[in-house]
Amino acid sequence: MPPVRPIILSTWSFGRIANSAAWPILCAGGSALDAVERACITVEDDPTIDSVGRGGLPDASGRVSLDGCVMLSPKRCAGVCFVRRFNHPVSIARRVMEQTHHVLLAGDGAEAFSEAQGFAPVELLTDEARDVWHKWRNDPAQLRGERYRGWLPPCNVEEVSGMSDNRQRLAADEVLPHNRSHDTIGVLAIDTRGAMAGACSTSGMAFKVPGRVGDSPIIGHGLYVDPQAGAAVATGTGELLMRTCGCFLAVELMRQGASPADAARQAIERIVNSCDIFDNHQVGLITLAPDGAWSSAALRSGFRVAVCTNDADDLTPAAAVHLPSSDPAEPLL
Ligand code: GLY
Repeated sequence: MPPVRPIILSTWSFGRIANSAAWPILCAGGSALDAVERACITVEDDPTIDSVGRGGLPDASGRVSLDGCVMLSPKRCAGVCFVRRFNHPVSIARRVMEQTHHVLLAGDGAEAFSEAQGFAPVELLTDEARDVWHKWRNDPAQLRGERYRGWLPPCNVEEVSGMSDNRQRLAADEVLPHNRSHDTIGVLAIDTRGAMAGACSTSGMAFKVPGRVGDSPIIGHGLYVDPQAGAAVATGTGELLMRTCGCFLAVELMRQGASPADAARQAIERIVNSCDIFDNHQVGLITLAPDGAWSSAALRSGFRVAVCTNDADDLTPAAAVHLPSSDPAEPLL
């Protein structure tokens, strides 16, 4: 059997930092699972990244909650959601996969499990994220145009968060232009033995309704890996991926013979055809075939894929973009 060429693919420009940390593992013959976990830990540990791990923007009540999952195959996968005291949801999810027969742990139970597994509790809310939340809570309009993932939940924020502000906060024109910052770190890898793995990690939508869980911890929504067919990982507005089982769909399309490019593009088209799309929505999706062929697609321009192989260490725009963006593309870092 010819030697397998390893590859790692990560979402957004911070995927480059993730790939740099994980690539030595793949080069040294380490496992795809170790590589995708290391990639996510690297981004979770960076407090300047406001959408993943410690430093992530909080929910409407000012508390950070993290979601993530890991997957090798339908037999080996797990996720955790609504984790508010531990910084590494992918590592905790890996423990759920390795130590239990369950696929998803949530909230207090996930935290008790983390503690029992020896993970150290941490304060996830940084001073910087608290400042942004204070500004949002006091006057969302102040943040219009700044570089962060502005989002006002389309529901009565006052009721769910106990805040006593006026209803102007919920007016359509208070919803900030579409997601300008980064979102989920999603990673797919193939190691030198040909094994595939995927992982994703996020602090979710900024200022979400407390209790909201997105696509990232749920197998088939933000991530799906089946070595018989391929793998897909997603980033962006979780609700769109959850309404369409976006990553499962992309892998099933590959199982039926679609190329990675066609599968990614058709999964985005399904979202557009099935969901109401608002200006602040974005979805980016990466697809990877078992032979290492890969592609990507996005709802709007701005999405980037960081790719690392023996020959390349690149950051590339999505191969297919469904809608033109009104925002300037994210600069290539
Ligand atoms: N894609 C991350 C989230 O919607 O929570």
